[in-house]
Amino acid sequence: MRMFVSLPIMLIVLVIGNAIGFAQDALGDRTNGKAIYDTHCLRCHGDHGEGNGPEASALIVPPTNFQTPESRMKSEFELRSTVIWGMAFSPMHGWFNILDGQEIREVIQYIRQLAPYQAKDYSDLTHDRIEKHT
Ligand code: HEC
Repeated sequence: MRMFVSLPIMLIVLVIGNAIGFAQDALGDRTNGKAIYDTHCLRCHGDHGEGNGPEASALIVPPTNFQTPESRMKSEFELRSTVIWGMAFSPMHGWFNILDGQEIREVIQYIRQLAPYQAKDYSDLTHDRIEKHT
């Protein structure tokens, strides 16, 4: 019974905690981000974020290579949700109970330093193609 009560409370604390974290610092500290990455993420995602860390080959689902265009076009919001909640049926578990809001922001800043954000390229999307799709 206790578990059923504590889960909603945990979620409320998490949501409020994140809102406070957002107000504190939008950018994060990249030096600290590297330390967090090296401690928790490098073993799967690799030292350059290419998804080739020392433990990667033992996993059935390969760790994301942050250098791919698909990963680089992800918004900070998308990365943040993945790091907080993890991905279903994947070794990428959620980190909400290990890292706090500020630490998650810092580690994402570091990932974006390794693999800078690249906006999606719509330049080949001509008027013709847009019409065919609608
Ligand atoms: C046990 C190995 C492992 C560890 C440790 C790990 N990850 Fe992952 N991560 C994965 C795997 C596997 C995926 C891909 C999951 C999938 O595609 O289903 C992933 C996916 C991601 C994604 C989604 C990227 C995208 O472009 O969709 C992000 C962001 C991410 N990890 C960040 C982190 C951060 C930050 C840490 C450290 C705090 C971390 N990961 C630690 C295995 C790991």
